[in-house]
Amino acid sequence: MTLRVAVAGAAGRMGQAVVTAVEGAEDLSLTGMADPALGTSLTDVLGDGDVDVVVDFTRPDTALANALQCVLAGVHVVIGTTGFDVQPLRELDPDPPANVFVAPNFAISAVLMMRFAAEASRHMAKAEIIELHHDGKLDAPSGTAARTADLMQGDVPIHSVRLPGLVAHQEVILGDVGQSLTIRQDSYARESFMPGVLLAVRRVPELTESPLIGLEHLLFA
Ligand SMILES: NC(=O)c1ccc[n+]([C@@H]2O[C@H](COP(=O)([O-])OP(=O)(O)OC[C@H]3O[C@@H](n4cnc5c(N)ncnc54)[C@H](O)[C@@H]3O)[C@@H](O)[C@H]2O)c1
Repeated sequence: MTLRVAVAGAAGRMGQAVVTAVEGAEDLSLTGMADPALGTSLTDVLGDGDVDVVVDFTRPDTALANALQCVLAGVHVVIGTTGFDVQPLRELDPDPPANVFVAPNFAISAVLMMRFAAEASRHMAKAEIIELHHDGKLDAPSGTAARTADLMQGDVPIHSVRLPGLVAHQEVILGDVGQSLTIRQDSYARESFMPGVLLAVRRVPELTESPLIGLEHLLFA
């Protein structure tokens, strides 16, 4: 069965990559593109009634409202937008009409970096994170850095760098007496996120827990 997918933020950097990825997937069909830059709202797209899953790559100040609107309309939602509080999603009806999946980073290398950093923090005395992104990114620290720090033991300071030319990069530096360990992850292109986004789109209708946060739950379950 073909899943009908709409993209919120379809004119943005990530949204355009998702549109291309969905159009290239045989089991998915693109049925909506919501973005004020295109003159189409999420309300218009949901109103058409031909959407199973919305993928949201918008802005920190709109992602939550978009997700709530989708769930109330009975449409599953995959959220890639970072920098917003997910708590209201946890307070939804325990048996919601649709599921929510959230990931601060859809790149497999980033998921592995977070996993290795969490493991390393159990054995090294201290750690700090340097996250580096393009200068159009609205939130700091990045959702990936915040999530990495949450998964690690101890208090992990985060330093944010914003420069043109960068995409999404992170170093976790761990130190102990006379030694250090650096774990570095780089996304050089937005295509790096697409296999993870498509995996989440295909899996979100069947989730038994919602909201489910983190791609590791789909990759390593
Ligand atoms: N989870 C991940 O793997 C991952 C990877 C990269 C970026 N991101 C996050 O994705 C988000 C988008 O990043 P970007 O670089 O594409 O930003 P962007 O500014 O290029 O695109 C955002 C788009 O959202 C649109 N928009 C704003 N309000 C909207 C609304 N109410 N409904 C629909 N569309 C709306 C804007 O017009 C814009 O076109 C950011 O929060 C970023 O941190 C996540």
